Formats: sequence, C-alpha cells, structure tokens
Amino acid sequence: MSLLSEKSFILENWNIALPVTIILLVTVYLISKRKKTDLDGAEYIGADNSIKTDENCYEDTEFTPSLDDKDHVLFPGAKVVLDGGATKFYEIVNDRRSVRKFSKKPVPFEIIKQCIQAAGTAPSGAHTEPWTFCVIADETIKNEIRDIIETEEYLNYSQRMHRQWTTDLKPLKTNHVKEYLSDAPYLILIFKQIYGIRNDGKKKQHYYNEISVSIATGILLCALQAAGLNSLVTTPLNCGPALRTLLNRPNNEKLLVLLPVGYAAEDCKVPDLRRKDVDEILFTY
Ligand SMILES: Cc1cc2nc3c(=O)[nH]c(=O)nc-3n(C[C@H](O)[C@H](O)[C@H](O)COP(=O)(O)O)c2cc1C
Repeated sequence: MSLLSEKSFILENWNIALPVTIILLVTVYLISKRKKTDLDGAEYIGADNSIKTDENCYEDTEFTPSLDDKDHVLFPGAKVVLDGGATKFYEIVNDRRSVRKFSKKPVPFEIIKQCIQAAGTAPSGAHTEPWTFCVIADETIKNEIRDIIETEEYLNYSQRMHRQWTTDLKPLKTNHVKEYLSDAPYLILIFKQIYGIRNDGKKKQHYYNEISVSIATGILLCALQAAGLNSLVTTPLNCGPALRTLLNRPNNEKLLVLLPVGYAAEDCKVPDLRRKDVDEILFTY
C-alpha cells in the first residue's frame, strides 16, 4: 500500500524526480570514472592509497622493483648516543613555538641546508623519498608568494572558511595579512611528490607520500629548533597550484606546507597555550 502511494508520489512529481534521477546517475558515473582514472595513473594503488584488488588487470605487466637490489649489511644500532638525550630533546622541542613575527636578522644558508639534510633522513614508504624542499631567500619571489597567499587568504577568511573555523582561529589572532612571508629570511616550501618517474620513464609509486613528507617536515622543525631558529607551519589554502607554477615545479609535486624560517622579532608574541600533559596522551598496556 505504502509502496503504491510512494509510486504515485513519484509519478505525480515526475518533473522533479526525473532531473534528480538523471543528476544522481551522472554523478555516480563521473565518480566511478574518476576512480578508474586515478587507478590507471597509479597502477597498483589508487591516489587515495586504496589497494586495487583486480589482479587480472596486471597480467601483462612486467613487475620490476623501483629500487636496485641492495646488499643487507649489519647494523649495530644507534651510534650517536647522548647522555640524557631524551630529556635534552624534549627540552629543545618543548621550546618550539609557532612564530608569526620575524626579525630580518640574516641566517646563514648553510644552517638551513643542514636542517634540510636532517629532514631528508626521514623514513619513507618503500624508500621513495617523495619530498622536495624549495628554499626562497630572494626578496622579489618572497613578495610574489606573499601576494598570492594574501589574495587567497582574504577570500578564505571572508568567504570560504566556515564561521566555526574563523572563530576557532580568533585566539591565535591570525588573518589574511602575512607580514612574515616577506620578513622571514627564508621561506621553505615543502612539496610532496605524489608519484616519481623511473629510469624507464614510467611512473613510480610513492606509497604513503603525504605521511612520509609530514614525518620529514617534523624532523625539519626539530632541526630548525635545535639550530636556534624559529618557524611556523602554514598550509596556504588554495595557493598550491599558483605557488607550484611560480616556482616552476613539475606536475607530480603538490604543496604540503610552507614554513617561514628565521629568528623571532624582538616584540614577537605568541598565544599562551597549554600543551597536553604526557599522561593525557600516553596509554600503557
Ligand atoms: C598542519 C598544520 C597547519 C597549520 N596551518 C597554519 C596556518 O595556515 N597559519 C598559521 O598561522 N598557523 C598554522 N599552524 C600553526 C598552529 O596554529 C600552531 O601549531 C598551534 O596553534 C600550536 O601552537 P605552537 O606551534 O606554538 O605550539 C598550523 C599547524 C599545523 C600542524
């Protein structure tokens, strides 16, 4: 009975039901087509890291490892051991704060290079090392970056971000004006390589590239802090493609984060935040 009444409702409202059904079918078709394209581009794992289960697709594929064969050598464990290393390391990283006001005091490039060398020791999915670090010291390029970001951030804050988001940011006193982008002596733009290119020109899978690059970024933050420098993790919303184009980076690179780096300005202020106690984040079993 209720089915009949539902049917008659659909029939009566066919002028609405028909376009809605067509839109639904087209959406489902487009989504499934997009998933297939992702998988074709990514060969065995989709761009969303989902594992492809249809083994038959690869019957004709000749599988060769992306890495050369490696000897396995004895590893004696950690060689650089500091007395009280864990305590010292905690003291260093606990001293890190997000700095949004930088002094123009110069920083030797060699220090930045060493910190990036440290970041490059990060583990990565199947040792793919899917990261690119672009260091900008040139004033003109820094100003171009600031222009791109401030234009987008104005739209983000005024139109794109949800009221809850802008409300959550109020205690941090952030807005679309980013003086630090031109004041900090260096901007480090960290790109994740969503795939690589093998010697034979084929695409190389970069498994878990975002996690790998995020770990490398974490190591970079620690290294900068250990070098007595200050930084800020920023994620400029909607700016990735324009910044990639500005820096002439290839298509397989997507901007993950941008870090201004330098020394905090003398009048730099930070919100008086409290960090969770270790007992709030650690559970033993
Ligand atoms: C993934 C991520 C994205 C962030 N994006 C921004 C950003 O776009 N702009 C900004 O001013 N701060 C950004 N931050 C900094 C956070 O606001 C900051 O880490 C947080 O308030 C804690 O402060 P602390 O870093 O001083 O401990 C980001 C931090 C992370 C980890």
